[in-house]
Amino acid sequence: MTSYENIIVTRDRRTATITLNRPKALNALNEALMVEVVEAATTLDADRSVGAIVITGSERAFAAGADIKEMAAQSYQDMYLSDWFTAWDRLAAVRTPLIAAVSGYALGGGCELAMICDILIASDTAKFGQPEITLGVIPGIGGSQRLTRAIGKAKAMDLILTGRTISADEAERAGLVSRVVPAASLLAEASEVAHKIAEMSLPAVYAAKEAVNRSFESTLTEGILFERRTFHATFALDDRTEGMTAFTEKRPPKFTHH
Ligand code: HXC
Repeated sequence: MTSYENIIVTRDRRTATITLNRPKALNALNEALMVEVVEAATTLDADRSVGAIVITGSERAFAAGADIKEMAAQSYQDMYLSDWFTAWDRLAAVRTPLIAAVSGYALGGGCELAMICDILIASDTAKFGQPEITLGVIPGIGGSQRLTRAIGKAKAMDLILTGRTISADEAERAGLVSRVVPAASLLAEASEVAHKIAEMSLPAVYAAKEAVNRSFESTLTEGILFERRTFHATFALDDRTEGMTAFTEKRPPKFTHH
């Protein structure tokens, strides 16, 4: 497996984990780290033996944001010409489910990275926020859009305009995270979720993720039509036949991911 400088990639059966690893900078998302996360995730996404990917940081910080020191000297022209942060869109296009396991700070780009993921599991120490406004900028990796869709306008405006940080409990009440667990069991919980998903039929999982994501991009009527046609298409899968046969035979299914 490729060796990286800012992340650690591990495999466990049909799952993989990408661990952000810039501890001295609280996993601040500099360009090198971004390139590595995107490269690792797209490589794993192309590997049909990977059914789910966990993205995590350290106990103290998932990621404390984009790297402010790297950005400080940049001009408008630099940002525009390099289309700064655009590579993160390639992570959002990954078809394999992404599970964010968040402990400690998930601020700015860190919160945005967690929101690119499909399932967000937080430790009870997690702190979420979009403090860009305190630096004289605004979110740049989708925060103004994904946070608003996740928790609604009132709360998104509150966080983005004041830059305040919220606890894991408040994030769960707001609908930003799906579960809050004790810090000590965060990775075990995320890994259990990843293994559970990875045991499902891979094409059915891709289709389910695509259908849910379509709800952010379409009207209800269009979204329901997309879901119905995709549901019909699952009847072409060997795994659909196996899943329903196993149910009637009262045994666990043996999916072949076809
Ligand atoms: C670069 C960072 C960093 C960041 C922390 N560090 N966050 N470096 N970019 N986003 C570095 C610190 O400079 C310091 O390095 C080391 O990590 C430890 O951080 P401390 O501040 O000493 O730790 P602590 O006192 O515990 O405070 C933790 C913290 C604070 C509350 C998370 O670090 C902080 O406020 N960070 C910035 C959070 C933020 O504003 N994020 C949004 C960034 S903008 P040294 O070398 O000094 O020891 C963004 C959106 C981009 O993400 C899109 C628009 C452009």
